[in-house]
Amino acid sequence: AADPRLQAISDAIRVVPHFPKPGIMFNDITALLLRPAAFKDAVDMFVERYRGMRIAAVAGIEARGFIFGPAIALAIGAKFIPLRKPKKLPGEVISETYILEYGTDCLEMHVGATEPGERVVVVDDLVATGGTLCAAIKLLGE
Ligand code: PRP
Repeated sequence: AADPRLQAISDAIRVVPHFPKPGIMFNDITALLLRPAAFKDAVDMFVERYRGMRIAAVAGIEARGFIFGPAIALAIGAKFIPLRKPKKLPGEVISETYILEYGTDCLEMHVGATEPGERVVVVDDLVATGGTLCAAIKLLGE
């Protein structure tokens, strides 16, 4: 059976049609953040899934992975790694360019943020084409 918390979490996410472009149904998690019980349930469900799995790091994807990722990382005792848009990180970085519906984008990560053999959970607010998530996984694999 589905977790009963899922319905309330789903109901709290506002769907905004035609944002930021015509044809796109934008799932707006800022509405979820305004409901502390549903926000906590969303974080707790990830914490329950990953606690005890020897997760060394949570990698959050800019920008909304920075909202959920650190809360999950703190609760499971993992480090937090920001995966950022280009030219935001001050140290030595590795980059992964990926294809969007129109054009390309890029994610960067600090070299040395994770080590071989560490288990990392990637967190973001949503997956659409999966291109961003694939780029994150490639970066961490490198
Ligand atoms: C959104 C979302 C994911 C990505 C998913 O970010 O937060 O990161 O798109 O799309 P994909 O699965 O097709 O790659 P957005 O591009 O809006 O960037 P932002 O978080 O910096 O606003």
